[in-house]
Amino acid sequence: MMIQDPSGDRRVYDLRDVEFLYGGTHRALQSVHLRVNAGERIAILGSNGCGKSTLMQILGGLLFPTKGEAYAFGQKLTEDQFREASFTAFFRRRVGLLFQNPDVQLFCPTVFDEIAFGPLQLDFSREEVLEKCREMLGMLNLEKIARRSPHQLSGGEKKKVALASVLALNPDVLLLDEPTAGLDPRTQVWLVEVLDELHSLGKTIVTATHDLSILEEIADRAYVMGEDHALVAEGPSDEILNDLDLLLRVNLIHEHAHEHEGFIHRHGHLHALPHHHDHPDQP
Ligand SMILES: Nc1ncnc2c1ncn2[C@@H]1O[C@H](COP(=O)(O)OP(=O)(O)OP(=O)(O)O)[C@@H](O)[C@H]1O
Ligand SMILES: [Mg+2]
Repeated sequence: MMIQDPSGDRRVYDLRDVEFLYGGTHRALQSVHLRVNAGERIAILGSNGCGKSTLMQILGGLLFPTKGEAYAFGQKLTEDQFREASFTAFFRRRVGLLFQNPDVQLFCPTVFDEIAFGPLQLDFSREEVLEKCREMLGMLNLEKIARRSPHQLSGGEKKKVALASVLALNPDVLLLDEPTAGLDPRTQVWLVEVLDELHSLGKTIVTATHDLSILEEIADRAYVMGEDHALVAEGPSDEILNDLDLLLRVNLIHEHAHEHEGFIHRHGHLHALPHHHDHPDQP
């Protein structure tokens, strides 16, 4: 189902000149302009500490700009707005955020309760909650750990439980902060397929990542953040991936120095992708 606000606008997010300072002093975002339409798949790219998670929490209505404005579904996101129970219910039903660190997300005594929590909040019937939990446990292969405490699981298991609890709500907008980090290859492939399916159902998906190897599979368009916490580029994922100078500048790829017969040539590496080196013929 596509989200459409009463004016018929398909815009989900509109961020205008957003700045965020932690504790009033520590800059995490500056001059961020970002737009996302319903049904789009967007990636937020950038190196460690550039502000991706902060941005995701602004999109998720958990942090609010210290300057500029963030709109979702045509409504300005402010602390006051979220004091209105009807808006909070409207927003939380539509937007699901997967935190980068699953420890922040998990708080229930068992994995089963963790997955059931969201659907219970949304007034699903008992049968629907049970059905949803069974479906999620099966999908993510979590049946064997359903009765265990989320806090005693491995990092990857925690991530899967957090993902199950977000997907259980079937939100229209999925905000995924480094969703593949810590997942084994099989689960990563599964996740990419699930996201593809959700995209074809019309969901809006925003993924923060520095995993360039999955970029084209999970996003049609990408925003690139620089180490100064501002956006430095926006464009189709394939164009961003081909702009090696840009990726090098924002530290998403690294430069290798190779010595060959007394001279050095330098080039960027997309290590996650298959690549080969073209070197001048060796004697
Ligand atoms: N709770 C916090 N209090 C103070 N500063 C914070 C807090 N969380 C993040 N920061 C700082 O804000 C900046 C942006 O952090 P953020 O977590 O948004 O980056 P990121 O792009 O998600 O990084 P990573 O790739 O490591 O996840 C960093 O300088 C970080 O040190
Ligand atoms: Mg982060």
